[in-house]
Amino acid sequence: SGSKNAGLALMAASVLCSKPTTLIGLPNVKDMFSMTQLLLDLGAKVSFDATQIEKYGPDCSLMTIDNSNINKLVAEYDFVKKMRASVFVLGPLLTRFGEAKVSLPGGCAIGVRPVDFHLRGLEAMDAKIEITDGYIVAKAPEGGLKGADFTLPMASVSATENLMSAAVLANGTTILRNVAKEPHIVAMADFLNKCGADISGAGTETITIHGVKELGGCKFIVPEDYVEAGTYAIAAAITDGDVLLKNCNMKTFESYADVFEKVGIGLEEVKYDDNGENKVAVRAFKRHEFTPCDIQTGVYPGFPTDLQAQMMIPLIMANGRSVITENLFENRFMHTAELMRMGAKIEVHGGDAIISGGTKLKSAEVMSTDLRASAALLLASLVAEGKSKIDRVYHLDRGYENIEMKLNNCGAKLERVVE
Ligand code: EPU
Repeated sequence: SGSKNAGLALMAASVLCSKPTTLIGLPNVKDMFSMTQLLLDLGAKVSFDATQIEKYGPDCSLMTIDNSNINKLVAEYDFVKKMRASVFVLGPLLTRFGEAKVSLPGGCAIGVRPVDFHLRGLEAMDAKIEITDGYIVAKAPEGGLKGADFTLPMASVSATENLMSAAVLANGTTILRNVAKEPHIVAMADFLNKCGADISGAGTETITIHGVKELGGCKFIVPEDYVEAGTYAIAAAITDGDVLLKNCNMKTFESYADVFEKVGIGLEEVKYDDNGENKVAVRAFKRHEFTPCDIQTGVYPGFPTDLQAQMMIPLIMANGRSVITENLFENRFMHTAELMRMGAKIEVHGGDAIISGGTKLKSAEVMSTDLRASAALLLASLVAEGKSKIDRVYHLDRGYENIEMKLNNCGAKLERVVE
């Protein structure tokens, strides 16, 4: 499917555009619906054009967002508390309309997740920022934000996205240093350039943005979700399956293919015939008995924190000791306690999870705590002896499109139980 995190960034960035934009291939996941609700509340018109499915394929979600009549510059707490990515509208609203009020996101299950880099960057562009009643109240100077030279203290994805959008309509040139390099940052810059922005350097450590007066609209294809692709590749390998992952290629896996190779998860680019059209897909399979491995999460192109929980399953199956070090979020090991209820042997010391592998997982009733933790529990259930039950799967629905259908089509037996 299309990438959730690219989709969220693109939908929020569309707020910069005075003409309608069309996003092709957005995943049908809850976070997209939450972002849609927020945009509608700001006054956007959002439509889904089913007639275009013939042109772009049956899996496409084609959304047209018309932000020409935004009439509210406030992102209410009700939206932000449901989804932190709501804060992505701060930069676009502020730079286009000169002011914005966005509820401060609190922490979430995986960590405190402050937004201080966003605010410092906007202040460097001459914005006045106050925190009032739990809201970020931001004002641009008369005549708009000013270009600035700003170095992010850490390569934050959301801060890069917010500051890049703010700079697009600012006066003069902005240089953002030590920025995030994820594929969704590149997609967002490509999208904005297609709408008339002047951004260069996305995908490297420094992004340069020459401000323009106005953005139009465009049609843009959302890139594939490399976290979803990785999750299914792990699913194939741990069940000794052999699965064809479509709508992706080897580049999709570039930030973790080396780790997969060491552990024994095979990836191979193959060609297949899609109704007479020659297309590329990636075959995922188990290359050999899993090998223990020490893994450190890092900013892109380091090993993604969003695959850390899922990667624990092959390491639990590998004979020997592995250490996973989580370097981005201080509380992203919530899944370990649940995995231990399924028989895994894991000790957590600060940012390190020490896995004594070689244990056979057994079924249990377990509890999801966040999106990727839920994915890990689902993977564990696929290999556990017996029938497992995962509670609070609504976390999973935030980021995995049609997960039951996709896995059941490959022979898994998943059933959604409504209680
Ligand atoms: N940070 C700060 N101050 C800031 C911003 C970030 O201290 O102002 C810190 C964070 O606390 C964290 C680190 O910087 O320790 C990196 O956070 P980042 O800002 O990059 O994360 P994010 O933008 O909030 C996005 C994804 C996450 C993904 C991270 C890291 C979206 C909507 N979310 O979050 O995705 O884990 O980047 O790659 O793009 C997920 O999909 O499950 C998910 C959590």
